[in-house]
Amino acid sequence: MGRTFLLGIDLGTSGVRALLMDDRGSVAGSCSEEYPLATPRPAWAEQSPEHWWRATRRAVRRLLAQTATEPCAIAGIGLTGQMHGSVFLDRHGEVVCPAILWCDQRTEEECEEITRLAGKKRVLAVTCNPVLTGFQAPKIVWLRKHRPEAWRRVAKVLLPKDYLRYLLTGLFATDVSDASGTSLLDVRKRRWSQEMIEATGICRSMLPEVFESPVQTGTVSAEAARATGLRAGTPVTAGAGDQAAGAVGSGIVEEGLVSVSLGTSGVVFAHARTPSRDPQGRLHTFCHAVPGAWHLMGVTLSAGGSYRWFRDAFWSPGNTAHSARRYREMEQAAARVPAGCDGLLFLPYLSGERCPHPDPRARGVFFGLSLSHDRSHAARSILEGVAFGIRQCVEMMDSAGVNTGRRFRITGGGSRSRLWVQICADILAREMVRLNVDEGPAYGAAILAGASAGVFPDVPSACRRLVRERQVFTPDGKRATLYDKLYHVYRELYASLRRSFADLAGAVS
Ligand code: XUL
Repeated sequence: MGRTFLLGIDLGTSGVRALLMDDRGSVAGSCSEEYPLATPRPAWAEQSPEHWWRATRRAVRRLLAQTATEPCAIAGIGLTGQMHGSVFLDRHGEVVCPAILWCDQRTEEECEEITRLAGKKRVLAVTCNPVLTGFQAPKIVWLRKHRPEAWRRVAKVLLPKDYLRYLLTGLFATDVSDASGTSLLDVRKRRWSQEMIEATGICRSMLPEVFESPVQTGTVSAEAARATGLRAGTPVTAGAGDQAAGAVGSGIVEEGLVSVSLGTSGVVFAHARTPSRDPQGRLHTFCHAVPGAWHLMGVTLSAGGSYRWFRDAFWSPGNTAHSARRYREMEQAAARVPAGCDGLLFLPYLSGERCPHPDPRARGVFFGLSLSHDRSHAARSILEGVAFGIRQCVEMMDSAGVNTGRRFRITGGGSRSRLWVQICADILAREMVRLNVDEGPAYGAAILAGASAGVFPDVPSACRRLVRERQVFTPDGKRATLYDKLYHVYRELYASLRRSFADLAGAVS
């Protein structure tokens, strides 16, 4: 008998990634396709769902050809992707307008409106989180209020990866982890909340059915099979939001395990057996992709995003080629700068912030600039500033009663930088551990597909089998002491600037 494969599809913010894993967890290959992000106004972020589908078709076709895989050898498909976005479809399943994304900050008023109508206490009690600008429900309310023409045509609202599911299978479905970021899910009961649906004034029939992550939701249709090269009838698993799927891919599926992910956003993720939440709602409490489990999460919006911005704006600007080489040059330059950057601090709030400060008006800051600083200091201060922000999220977890332990698993594109991982170890005063696999959410989605198809008995046992710790970075006592002092200055900066951020937003609006 030939080998069995699992396909994970991760619909990211800059591109889609299709990954093929065999039943022993080895990656047979992966293919990515990019698509543009539109920012029609500052702090808005939109994408065309048609671009997602075109890129997905291409990535899957290329992957099948590149790995010479027979489509009938694929036992299941797992979907994952950017969370929180809103895809609006009409009654024929056609896209009504561009999708509004997780990093879009236009919905401050709508968040206040939903919170007022539902009651702040109820919002926290039911959804386990405050209504935040990135989340899905305020985007729906925004469209109804500001684009009534488009709204009249809307029959269905989907999260990004669930639009791919619709095109693959014809079904309207989502999973509990992704649905947790809508402000419409009863996160304890793991089903839509009638109370939140009513407060938001959305029709229940607009929302997809909700499933646990490793559960099958239909199969590839004949039409989708023609479009992608997949076999008609291949099972499609509910899947998960990118953070929960990424956590599955890094084995964060048992109590006591915590990861730090350095992607576009920076995320601290802790597995939780109960939906216990941060009483102030500053951390996210979402359903996990493991049935019957939850997770706590702190999300800083611009982690790798800040570093990429700096590269593109200040490190050979205009030179769009050699992006990997420019990162290497930046890292070498940053490594020559002493820890603490001779007093230069960076606040990474380039697109507003979510954790530790839910504030769409916050903006990036270099603080402490002097004549002795140059762009190498600025590069390093970004790496340090992101790590300081992550430390704030970790401290919020500690104060919410999560046992975060002495050792974190580190994942995401940023974890390929030895310098950044060491900076995290020193600033968080924890061991940072790299894993044998760092394939991101697509790998976790493939594991979910395997658990659903019976290739693995369940998600935790699959993770125990496939994911191992590989390389440990230990904090350096001297640097940790210095960073500790700087962290206290860093922590005060937001409080000092909060009003100025609001004034600035008012002045330029
Ligand atoms: C999680 C979050 C991001 C997006 C994009 O809450 O907003 O991880 O899913 O990656």
